Amino acid sequence: MIKYVYPGSFDPLTKGHVDIIERGAKLADRLIVGILMNATKQPMFTLKERIRIIEAGIGHVPNVDIIPFDGLLVDFLKQQDARTVVRGLRAVSDFEYELQMAQANRNLYPEMETIFLCTNVEYSFISSTVVKDILRHGGDISHLVPMESIHIIEKILGGKENGSGSADGN
Ligand code: PNS
Repeated sequence: MIKYVYPGSFDPLTKGHVDIIERGAKLADRLIVGILMNATKQPMFTLKERIRIIEAGIGHVPNVDIIPFDGLLVDFLKQQDARTVVRGLRAVSDFEYELQMAQANRNLYPEMETIFLCTNVEYSFISSTVVKDILRHGGDISHLVPMESIHIIEKILGGKENGSGSADGN
């Protein structure tokens, strides 16, 4: 059983993430989307919300599991009995950070590998940060986030505006 792990903050999922998930899932028997629980100090979406958004956006990919993790990625890999991490590269500017992370991880767990998939060029400008910025200013994210997830995002943000949004602290 070939298991790959695609880790990230996914705050929120973008079309670029979906591209990597679709392609990563073709390379393995199972692709684990590992969601870092404490993504940043102030994520826009709670862990539960990020999971709901991912579930909606990748429902068409059959061999994917969505599993939250905390702590070191290498410990999560060991826990999942996986040795391969998949990451997307949008541009040369991503490379420095990704190389450092891959090397730090291998230093901690020499049996692991990181493989990089080059993001489809049509998604190379998309990031969760850009999506959040557009959302904060009430702009259109329909070309950045899968259609199935937009509905969920709108519901979540609508709920927060009404003061009824979930707040699980993650
Ligand atoms: O989507 P992101 O925020 O670029 O993903 C970054 C992520 C989650 C892959 C990275 O921050 C991570 O693996 N964090 C877990 C902590 C860890 O293992 N750190 C050491 C490697 S740098």
